[in-house]
Amino acid sequence: MPGREENASTRTFCEFFAGIGLVRSGLEPSGWDCTYANDIDPKKREIYERNFGDHDAYDERDVWNTEEVVSRIEDRPFLATASFPCIDLSLAGNWRGLEGAHSSSFFGFTQVVEALGEQRPRLILIENVTGFLTSRKGNDFRNAAKELARLGYWLDAFVINAKSFVPQSRPRVFIVGVHESIESEQLVRQADCSVWDRWLMELDRYPSLRPSSLSEIMRTTELPGTGWVATPIKPPEQKSYKLSNFVDTDDSQDWWEEEARDKHFNMLSDLHRKVVEDHMAARVEMLGTGYRRKRNGSTKLEVRFDGVAGCLRTPRGGSARQIVVHIKDGQFRVRWMSPREYARLQGVSRFRLLENDRQMLFGFGDAVCVPVISWIDKCVLSPLYEECSNANLVG
Ligand SMILES: C[S@@+](CC[C@H](N)C(=O)[O-])C[C@H]1O[C@@H](n2cnc3c(N)ncnc32)[C@H](O)[C@@H]1O
Repeated sequence: MPGREENASTRTFCEFFAGIGLVRSGLEPSGWDCTYANDIDPKKREIYERNFGDHDAYDERDVWNTEEVVSRIEDRPFLATASFPCIDLSLAGNWRGLEGAHSSSFFGFTQVVEALGEQRPRLILIENVTGFLTSRKGNDFRNAAKELARLGYWLDAFVINAKSFVPQSRPRVFIVGVHESIESEQLVRQADCSVWDRWLMELDRYPSLRPSSLSEIMRTTELPGTGWVATPIKPPEQKSYKLSNFVDTDDSQDWWEEEARDKHFNMLSDLHRKVVEDHMAARVEMLGTGYRRKRNGSTKLEVRFDGVAGCLRTPRGGSARQIVVHIKDGQFRVRWMSPREYARLQGVSRFRLLENDRQMLFGFGDAVCVPVISWIDKCVLSPLYEECSNANLVG
């Protein structure tokens, strides 16, 4: 940022598609310093600034304004993160893929990286939904990887589900780009024949990290100029947690009146209604979360009682907001999940909220899960930073 001190931190990053700043929340605790944030959404900016108070760093410009964006980035950031819009990589965006109006902004980001020239970040972290792996038969992911390789990055990729850390199922695919200027000993490179077997071994070692849809792409996509690497990471250890520590069950919550409650009871599938009735009869407490879904012309309440909430989404239409279902003392009750509960399920229980619930739910539904980012930092980003720092490759 303009005015940064001469001896400012070299552990710097720029966050693209910054949203409400949850990537920043995941990186800052280990010492990363955000020097630039970019996102076009003024409502998310409001939330971001409530939490980070950083009026200068947030640039509300469209990422496609390459020259202006580049002119705002001072010095060489060590890392650039980009959790670009996912809508076109899913059914909601009719699988338009990287040619869609929203997800194509990935190339707005790579255009900025290219224009940075000598200032290109040493590391890049990309995040998106796992639909990225299958969108247009995997060709979107292949093309994105080739574009990053063209800019001089060796690439690793893996899938992490937030449910390893918090009771929310949120699988996401990450790409880590390591600039060719980094000579890391931690990386197993594909191109070196002597380690080809080791690279393949790393690739297949943990199918939860690199499922077949991903390892197949990595095995069969040639990257121009660089290649694939494997960082020798293990899947995160499963944390033990209780959904009831994240979702409130006390009487002071906004539980719905009888009419809405009965309506939702009747929306349960036969199977779930039976489970609910059995628990009510046995007076056993049960907590679940669900969504309303249109199925064969009628609206159903699809709930899960496995102790994990479904993936939080942006509340476009009534079907995308999570509903809390609670059975206690033989009573069935339901209500909307609150922004505070969304915050907890994204791993930021103390995040400052604005009064507008809808604004907050939009922010959280689009965001990353913070402990996942911190885990990637601890296992991949910070070790690479330390290695470069020891080799005087920072700044
Ligand atoms: C998946 S969300 C990222 C959320 C963010 N990682 C967080 O934790 O809040 C994608 C973001 O991209 C922003 N965006 C979409 N198109 C953009 C563009 N052309 N230029 C800049 N930002 C854009 C949206 O406003 C949205 O906040």
